[in-house]
Amino acid sequence: MALQSIKQAFYIRDYVSIFTTPSNLPVYTAAYIPGRALCYYEIFRSHKELLRLLAKSSRIYLPGSGSGSELIGMSAAMLHVPPAKQHVQLYMQDIGDWSKVLDGLEESVRRQWKLDSNQLHCSYEQGDVLEPSPRRDQLIQEADLITFMFVMNELFVNKAKSMALIQSLVSNMKKGAYLLVVDSAGSFSHLKIGDQTYMIYTLLDAIKSLEKVISEDSKWYRYPGHLQYPLDIQNMRYFLRLYRKL
Ligand SMILES: C[S@@+](CC[C@H](N)C(=O)[O-])C[C@H]1O[C@@H](n2cnc3c(N)ncnc32)[C@H](O)[C@@H]1O
Repeated sequence: MALQSIKQAFYIRDYVSIFTTPSNLPVYTAAYIPGRALCYYEIFRSHKELLRLLAKSSRIYLPGSGSGSELIGMSAAMLHVPPAKQHVQLYMQDIGDWSKVLDGLEESVRRQWKLDSNQLHCSYEQGDVLEPSPRRDQLIQEADLITFMFVMNELFVNKAKSMALIQSLVSNMKKGAYLLVVDSAGSFSHLKIGDQTYMIYTLLDAIKSLEKVISEDSKWYRYPGHLQYPLDIQNMRYFLRLYRKL
């Protein structure tokens, strides 16, 4: 029932109602997170720039990460690098109250993969990344990596605030810090400006102070066929951009 109403709300792009209805949150995580976590694991494991960040002391700011795919995918990728210098700090943030869901996932990650609190530090705060605040500036300024994983196109429902967020990223990111944007390669990521339609990444690609490090316009993640899960795991077609602040 809850899954059906989540699907209907997605169809009409009513994202706020999905993620601010507490009973939806564990259902959303159970249905959508396994596929995404597998995809993010693959992304982090297969790109040396990203894997390197998981092998040392790094601060990572993750807006829109409450449902836990980033936590699971990145923790799993951490197992592919030597643990000695690993000190990865995840600053997860989301508009919904995901703390209970994330507590449970963090506990499983630590138990299953033996990641101690020095290797992996997790913090979660509920907040709207579109609202300018000194805290948002601080999270951006201190981050070595900022991720927007299947979040950007939801944010762009409010174009003016999203443009202001991009502006704040550009002016606050430290030199050498990375910005990772992964989102649907399909029409969900269309951005209409006047009577023209662009992909959201076109806008980011045009920013002079962001160097494109990895650029993939359309990639499929197909989950390994031998995996078994009680619900359907969806293959995903996504675009990926990794930028470095100049
Ligand atoms: C499609 S889900 C993606 C979740 C996760 N990043 C993943 O890849 O599985 C979008 C997430 O962005 C969050 N979100 C939407 N608007 C937001 C905002 N203005 N501030 C913070 N989080 C937001 C939602 O609550 C939701 O958890």
